[in-house]
Amino acid sequence: MRTQVGIVGAGPAGLLLSHLLHLRGVESVVVDVQTRASIEQTIKAGILEQGTVDLLRDTGVGDRMMRDGFIHHGINLAFRGGLHRIDLTELSGGRSVTVYAQHEVLIDLIAKRLDDGGDLRFGVTDTAVDGLESEQPTITFTHEGGRQSLECDFVVGADGSRTMCRYLVPQRQDFFRQYPFAWFGILADAPPSSDELIYAHSDRGFVLVSTRSPSVQRLYFQCDPETDVDDWSDDRIWSEFTARLAPAGVAPKDGPIFKKDVLQFRSFVCEPMQYGRLFLAGDAAHTVPPTGAKGLNLAVADVRVLDRALGVYYRSKDKGLLEAYTQTALKRVWRAQWFSFWMTSMLHRFSDASDFDLRRQIAELELVTSSPSAAKTLAENYTGLPLT
Ligand code: PHB
Repeated sequence: MRTQVGIVGAGPAGLLLSHLLHLRGVESVVVDVQTRASIEQTIKAGILEQGTVDLLRDTGVGDRMMRDGFIHHGINLAFRGGLHRIDLTELSGGRSVTVYAQHEVLIDLIAKRLDDGGDLRFGVTDTAVDGLESEQPTITFTHEGGRQSLECDFVVGADGSRTMCRYLVPQRQDFFRQYPFAWFGILADAPPSSDELIYAHSDRGFVLVSTRSPSVQRLYFQCDPETDVDDWSDDRIWSEFTARLAPAGVAPKDGPIFKKDVLQFRSFVCEPMQYGRLFLAGDAAHTVPPTGAKGLNLAVADVRVLDRALGVYYRSKDKGLLEAYTQTALKRVWRAQWFSFWMTSMLHRFSDASDFDLRRQIAELELVTSSPSAAKTLAENYTGLPLT
C-alpha cells in the first residue's frame, strides 16, 4: 500500500490531521491499536478553546458540537469562603470555551472521514515504523489477520501518551515533572451544581465542578495517586465534594455515579518533535496536567501547524515550514505548560505545603480575581491563544 501521509493514532491529533489534509487533497491512512468502539467511548477531556471550536466548525465537522455543546463565557474560582467569577469573554476580547466531550469530537471526525472515503484501520497490532531517514518511510502493521506494509512520504506519530513513535526520535531531550497528587473524576446523572465551571481551592484539596449536559455532570477532587476507586462509595464521594465546596457556599447536587476514574498528573515535553520524515503531534510529544484543560487543544494546534506545513510542501516542494515544525509548535506547547502548571500550583494542596505556601496561594487567587490585568492573563490563556 502507498499513501502520502501515514498517521499512527486515531485520537484528536491523528483524525483531525487526516481530515484537514483531505480538504487539501492530500491522502492519508490512519492506523490505531484500539477498536473504533473503544475510541468512541473513552471518556477524556471536555473543554474546547475558541480556536478549536472555530476550526472544527469551519472545516465541516462542527454540526453536532454547535447543536449539543455548551458555550461558557466565564469560570469561577472558589477560595476562602467565596466564589469569584472570571468573565472570560469580556477579558479576552470576545472569546469563550465550549463544553463538548473529546469522544464526541472523535465520533464526529471518524464519521466525517469515513463519509469522505478516508482509510482508517482500527484494532491493528504489531505496528512498526522504518526508514525515517529515507524518502520513503514505511508503517508495517497487522490488520484483520494480514500483515500490511504502508509506504509513505511522511509519518505522523499521533499515538498519545503511550506512544511508540516518540522513541524513534534519537537524541531527544525529555522534560518531565511529576506531581504528588491525582484527580478522582466522576460522571453522575445529576443536575448541574453551577451554571459555570468552579475551580475550588480548599483546605481538604482542590475540586473542579464541570459538566457534560443538563443531566450529566463531571466533577473531580484532588486525591492521592494511589487511590483505588473501589474504596469510594457514592456516599463517600458526595460527602467529600460537599465538605470541600461548603466553605465557598456551594452545595453540589448529587445523583447516581456511573463512572469513576483516577487521572494521573504529569507535565512532559519531548524536544525535538520531529526526526527525518517523522513528526510527532499531541500527547505523543507532550502532556499537560488537566487543570488548564489544554491537552486536546494543544493537539489541535500541533496539527494545524503540521497541516499547513504539509500543504506548502505538496504545493511547492518547499520544506521550510516542515523543518520549522518543532520550533513553531513548541512556542505554544511551552506556553500551555506554563499555564497548566500555574493553574495547578495555584489551586492544589501540596502535602508539604507550609502555612506560608497556603497564604501565598490565597494571595495569588486574590490577585487573579481582583486585578483586571491578572484576570486577563488567565482569560486569554484559558480561552486559548489564536491559532496562527
Ligand atoms: C472536564 O470537564 O473534563 C474538564 C474541565 C475543565 C478542566 C479539566 C477537565 O480544566
